[in-house]
Amino acid sequence: MKRLNNHRVALLVTAVLVGTGVLVGALTAPPGLGAADRNPDGSYVGTKVEGTTPAQWRLTWEEDPAHAATISWTTAVEPKKSTLVYDTEARRGDVTGYRLHADATIGQYTDDEVHTWYNHAELTGLKPDTTYWFVMVSDGAASREFHFVTGPEGDADFKLLYGGDSRSDRDARRTMNRRMRALLEEDPEILALAHGGDYVANGEEMEDWDEWLTDHELTVTEDGRMLPLIPARGNHEASGPLFDQIFNTPGKKGGNFYRTRIGEQFLLVTLNSNISAGGDQADFLETVLSDNEKVRWQCANYHRPAYPAVKSPGSALEHWVPLFEKYNLDVAFESDGHTLKRTCRIRNGKRADDGVVYIGEGGLGVKQRTPKDDRWYFNGGMTASTLHVQKLTITKDSLTVESVTDTGKVYDSYEARPRKR
Ligand SMILES: [Fe+2]
Repeated sequence: MKRLNNHRVALLVTAVLVGTGVLVGALTAPPGLGAADRNPDGSYVGTKVEGTTPAQWRLTWEEDPAHAATISWTTAVEPKKSTLVYDTEARRGDVTGYRLHADATIGQYTDDEVHTWYNHAELTGLKPDTTYWFVMVSDGAASREFHFVTGPEGDADFKLLYGGDSRSDRDARRTMNRRMRALLEEDPEILALAHGGDYVANGEEMEDWDEWLTDHELTVTEDGRMLPLIPARGNHEASGPLFDQIFNTPGKKGGNFYRTRIGEQFLLVTLNSNISAGGDQADFLETVLSDNEKVRWQCANYHRPAYPAVKSPGSALEHWVPLFEKYNLDVAFESDGHTLKRTCRIRNGKRADDGVVYIGEGGLGVKQRTPKDDRWYFNGGMTASTLHVQKLTITKDSLTVESVTDTGKVYDSYEARPRKR
């Protein structure tokens, strides 16, 4: 009898909880945690793109991450108004409590079949090295509270991730997104992910981006920290408006090449290997490298390799490598090959102690190929066939690049010392 009563009480409590939405909330999980990890069958569906509920969030850094960022999201229908409310203090999602706000620009993604909308809130005048807490709101529908950390000012130590090619193996992409989330959770000094391109198989199909954006939610930490993206174009999104509609046109429209300064002593130049490498883009690269020649650490990010592990060299070899060598770049990050590689230090087409190192080739969600490890520039370097992401540790004394596999193993590590500049 006592047992039955307990059972009845439990049923009653359950009914009340369901009625108030508490249990429903616990089972479906709040939006924003990449929470649909928790589906009973183990599958991941992400936040449903429905009505004006914010979904598919991402945060983009461009030139000045100490003071600016774009936070973007997708809605299924066109909102009358979308706003990002934000603050330097957590407000637990109470949208009336945030002291700052930025209205978003709204537009429809260009696609024949998917008719969803982008919302871009551009934040400016931010404080360096500061945690900002925020909620996305579209016509009264609000996301959970997220946060991110702005770039540092001054001669700061910090960490970054680099990776590319997340396009054609969705399970592998989710695995690597979870790996990046784990890295961010165990190491809060990681500030952002520089992506080397080939996000999706067909960059002119919103259906592909839809899946990528939903999977990208998995990079958000359990406590709601968002990983900023510094995006480069790959050949699978070589043309078409969607790349700009998703990342709010990083760099100039039609160019998408730009420079990012993180702190006083780190320069990242993002280049576009899908347009002419010479002409305006080479002029831009020379100007940036010359303007920043005293900056201690200098890196580049672009898709098609100058020193590939699988395919033939892109036009980076002819147009960019001479400038990298002239200005003593430290590391060029390259993708596209679907393998893991690190070259020896290269200058004038030969191994040289004062040369430039080329690291990457793309392991964020594609089946890995077999690298051509007999190429001369891997003597003194390495290749492997494994999913991976690079973790950069930047200090005053060293720049370390660790290649971390899907299981979290550090497969390779490279360390550069500051050059005389
Ligand atoms: Fe590619």
